[in-house]
Formats: sequence, C-alpha cells, structure tokens
Amino acid sequence: MSQRRPFVAGNWKMNGARAQAAALIDGILAGVSALGDAEVAVCPPFILIPLVAEKLRSTRGRVLWGGQNLDTHPSGAYTGEISGPMLRDFDCTYVIVGHSERRSFYGESDAIVAEKFAAAQAAGLVPILCLGETLAEREADETERVVERQLRAVLDRSGVESLARATIAYEPVWAIGTGRTATPQQAQDVHRFIRARLADKSAAVAAGMRLLYGGSVKGANARELFAQPDIDGGLIGGASLQAEEFLAICRAAG
Ligand code: PGA
Repeated sequence: MSQRRPFVAGNWKMNGARAQAAALIDGILAGVSALGDAEVAVCPPFILIPLVAEKLRSTRGRVLWGGQNLDTHPSGAYTGEISGPMLRDFDCTYVIVGHSERRSFYGESDAIVAEKFAAAQAAGLVPILCLGETLAEREADETERVVERQLRAVLDRSGVESLARATIAYEPVWAIGTGRTATPQQAQDVHRFIRARLADKSAAVAAGMRLLYGGSVKGANARELFAQPDIDGGLIGGASLQAEEFLAICRAAG
C-alpha cells in the first residue's frame, strides 16, 4: 500500500451567506492546530470564495479551498458561468467535477464531466471527480457498470496519467443527504473496484489515487469508513456546514 495522505473536503453546496461562512471558517480555524495529518479543503459557493480565501490564507496551506463546478471554457460569452482560470485567480486548489446533483439537476453527461475535468486541469486546478450510482442502479446490480462508465469517459478524454493530478470521490446517490450511509464494506467494495480499473491502465496511478467516500459521512461514522483499505478520506456535504462536526471528521481521517 502506498503512502496516500488522507484527504477530507467539505462541499458546502448552495448554503451560507457571508456571516455563516465567516463563522464556519472561524470555527475551523479555531480547531486547525488539532487537525491531525489529513489534508483539508472546503468548497464554498462561488460568491463566498473570496471571503473564504481571505481567511484561509492565514493557515498557509493547512486548509485549502476550491470550487464546486466550473465551465468547460476558459472565458467568453457564457452568461452566468465561472471558469477554471477564474477559480485559480482566487487561489483555488481544487474543483469538484461531476457531482451527482450536477449530473441529475443540470443534465451534465459523462462527456460534459470529462470536458470539465480537462478544463480544470488546463487551468491548473485539481479536479475532485465524483462517481456514483443511483438507488435504482444499485438495486439492478449495475453499480460497477455505472461507475466504470463514468470513469471511462475521463480516461478516454484525458488519459490515465491525468488521474495522477486528480482525486476521485465515490458518492452513491442514494447515500447523499439521506442520512443513509453506505456500509464500510459496501463503500470499500466499490473503492476497490475503482482502484482495480485504474490499475488496468496504470499500477502507479492506481496506487497513488486518493479515493474519497461521500454520502452522509458524520463524525460518528467517519472512522469506520476511513479504516477501509481503499478509502482515503471523504467528500462531506451536510456535516461540513458545522465546524465541530467537520473537524471531527478531519481528525478521524488523520
Ligand atoms: P452529504 O453530501 O454528506 O450531505 O451526504 C455529500 C456530497 O454530496 O458531497
């Protein structure tokens, strides 16, 4: 097993205004000295990134930040969109790509997600690529087929070596925001499968890939999930909106 540094990223989704964001970051900063070894990042709504970036600069890289989405183009006549270079301009390290809410509510196909992944890397951002099946797909025993298809779109577009500069988050759609977490064994099975598919293309990329689990992770269940051999951290939604809970998850990873 390679030395993969655990990684916990918070996905705030469309939550918070300036006051809540400031309080949440202050709460994280208050616990930053006891964070443990895990790498930590938060992904606020676009409009809150300047505020968050301003506060987190004081951690000198201990807590990083990123976007939740980006456009496929670097600039131009795309009303309402935000590009990778714009996120880099605010010192984002990461950007989430292919979250299931983007795929289902905004019609992002595997091909669009693969374009966004490429656009993120072209801008110098590290994509956090989300993969995951719906409940109907799991019940139809299609989990592996779906996850493999989602992964293949990126592999075909950008090549396996591009995954050396990316993170993957496995997020079963039925576990997101539902309070219904995948069991550690269910998550581990899919994580092992994803790593094996990467290993088909490159043993080194597979061994180095940090595979995050996402879906109702809390302080109370994080340790058991992160103890699985192929789970290297988490992508945290609801629980990342509470500083104490988020810090507890970070400590569980570290
Ligand atoms: P959740 O969301 O932790 O609220 O389930 C995870 C995610 O959607 O990234």
